[in-house]
Amino acid sequence: MHFYMEPGGRLKGRIRVPGDKSMSHRAIMLGSIAEGRSTVKGFLEGEDALATLAAFREMGVMISDPRAGEVIIEGVGLTGLRPPQRVMDVGNSGTSIRLMAGLLAGQSFDSILTGDESLLSRPMGRVITPLSQMGALIRSREGCPPLEIQGGRALAGIHYDLPVASAQVKSSLLLAGLYAEGVTSVTEPAPTRDHTERMLKGFGYEVAREGDVISLKGRGVLRSCDIDIPTDISSAAFFMVGASIAPGSDLLIEHVGMNPTRDGVVRILRAMGADIEVSNERDVGGEPVADVRVRSAPLRGIDIPENEVPLAIDELPAILIAAACAEGETVLGGAEELRVKESDRIASMADGLSQLGIANKVMPDGIRVTGGDLGGGVITTHHDHRIAMSFAMAALRATDRIKISDCAHVSTSFPRFAELASEAGLLLQVADQ
Ligand code: S3P
Repeated sequence: MHFYMEPGGRLKGRIRVPGDKSMSHRAIMLGSIAEGRSTVKGFLEGEDALATLAAFREMGVMISDPRAGEVIIEGVGLTGLRPPQRVMDVGNSGTSIRLMAGLLAGQSFDSILTGDESLLSRPMGRVITPLSQMGALIRSREGCPPLEIQGGRALAGIHYDLPVASAQVKSSLLLAGLYAEGVTSVTEPAPTRDHTERMLKGFGYEVAREGDVISLKGRGVLRSCDIDIPTDISSAAFFMVGASIAPGSDLLIEHVGMNPTRDGVVRILRAMGADIEVSNERDVGGEPVADVRVRSAPLRGIDIPENEVPLAIDELPAILIAAACAEGETVLGGAEELRVKESDRIASMADGLSQLGIANKVMPDGIRVTGGDLGGGVITTHHDHRIAMSFAMAALRATDRIKISDCAHVSTSFPRFAELASEAGLLLQVADQ
């Protein structure tokens, strides 16, 4: 499946993007191991979150078919999961495999997790090492999936200093910690998304934070609750960039999740000169939400502050499209984590920007991009949803057609992206050839 983009267009009107991916995964996982029935609203019906849902059904949890974002989970309690009858395939989802590795390490039964081609090359040592210190036994294929997780191990709480700022590793350890004897604590080198901590509290489970240390005590109880998931700022980010770069744009993005560990994109784009107005700020189920109005504005290149990198980690590909349309140079450093996402996002973006005639220089931990005139060309997505959607926005400022090859993965995080983007003003056609 490919996107064919005509150059030009502008973004207008009001849109609402789909539910938050990180929270959708966590809602299924925590709802499944809570006592009693939980109702989830705003669930992302994308392939990644549906893979998590299917995995928990495989372990005997009754979960309704999502309907208009609503899912009902009949939680089985911390020790109520049943042995899966088959290998659990979580598709493209790094969040599912890493968080579930922690949760499954504490079960009485064995399990195997696998995924698609992209997931099979992603590093799992970052969770296997600390989980092993807790007493888990996990076999991998040279540090990559599939993961074979042995059950019946007695886990003990540890303290772990995260070597990388990763919410997935932090969350994996906290989920294993639910099953461990004693206290499990994690120090973050920089703040990362805190949805696991917030949602655990929503399920009545105590999680402490002191400075950069997060801890919980094992073997407590999660009590069912109703979860209202805001929309995904990572999906909204493509439209923030699109409306900023396309002259004449004025777009309102409603009900955007604005968790302070996720909103780096707003600060970075504003520092580049973007006209972003945040209004109607409110709290929805323990998470901040707001409406975001974006009007086109001339952008300038900046040095992206390194402390913002973990807070905008999934939005950096889109931000680099803004950089391509900005006056002067943008420097992104301290972002080596981008190399181990769904693709090597530094290489994928450098490739695509060069295709469109944008000067850039790759560094080990980032990239320098010099703003200029975007031409047309063929973009390879490297099976990466966020690369596809970022370059779709580039077409708004291109002088020629852009073909974005291989966009099937867009539905992992953003079902109906093509329809919504077309409604907002992108000149996009989808074709199989
Ligand atoms: C996620 C954490 C981030 C992010 C990913 C989702 C999560 O990964 O890139 O898309 O839901 O915890 P890392 O923890 O590897 O930084």
